[in-house]
Amino acid sequence: MIIAHRGASGYTPENTFAAFDKAIELGADYLELDVQLAKDEEVVVIHDAKVDRTSNGKGHIHHFTLKELQKLEAGSWFHEDFYGERIPTLTQVLQRYGGKIGMLIEVKYPSLYPTIAEKLAKLLTEEMYHNQTIIVQSFDFQFLKQFHQHAPSIPLGLLVKYSIKGITNNQLKEWSSLVSYINPNKALVTKTLVKKIHYRNMKTFPYTARDRKGMEKLIHNRVDGIITDFPDLTKKDPSIESSP
Ligand code: G3P
Ligand code: CA
Repeated sequence: MIIAHRGASGYTPENTFAAFDKAIELGADYLELDVQLAKDEEVVVIHDAKVDRTSNGKGHIHHFTLKELQKLEAGSWFHEDFYGERIPTLTQVLQRYGGKIGMLIEVKYPSLYPTIAEKLAKLLTEEMYHNQTIIVQSFDFQFLKQFHQHAPSIPLGLLVKYSIKGITNNQLKEWSSLVSYINPNKALVTKTLVKKIHYRNMKTFPYTARDRKGMEKLIHNRVDGIITDFPDLTKKDPSIESSP
């Protein structure tokens, strides 16, 4: 599986319609996107806790209402060609792309948003999203436990940072009681780790491949999918896909 990291963020401004359109154009299997809550508790698609890096605004997401957030311009920081891009809501993304591509939804900074588990669960379990392929992931295992109470049928992924310096068998055992995916930093991935993940009936989508070498190593280690800024990296050179 090819998972477009924040959309096709190597070519377009991350987490915008431009990035998601490009990911679809390049044949990605999933969109990876980051969600947080606006001041009025709308679920919005943005990576950082502040709007500063990816828009013309300044300040924390939770200090802006949805209306205020959507007035911000979120494309030209990347390139002037993308002037006019906006911060989308999760609902807009699900309505525009649902059924066309899978969604790997990462909840960012859940401790900043005490109601986000409930809000997100409510949104994703609405009937119109039942036929969509959705996975919810987070670095925060406690958050995933909480989310599962509200939406037990939605598959979960645990993100693992490089700083953990290795994943133990006991951790995998505990995690496998809740999650279907272990998604580590690519530097943690070995063939042995992937085998252990598979042994416990989980899958793995490591992050974030940005070059051919990185992709080749992950494919060689038999991962189930690759989170990448450049979803066309394997398609440009099909020989990568058949590496041993
Ligand atoms: O999906 C994995 C990856 O997105 C986690 O890191 O900082 O890009 O959200 P980050
Ligand atoms: Ca992310």
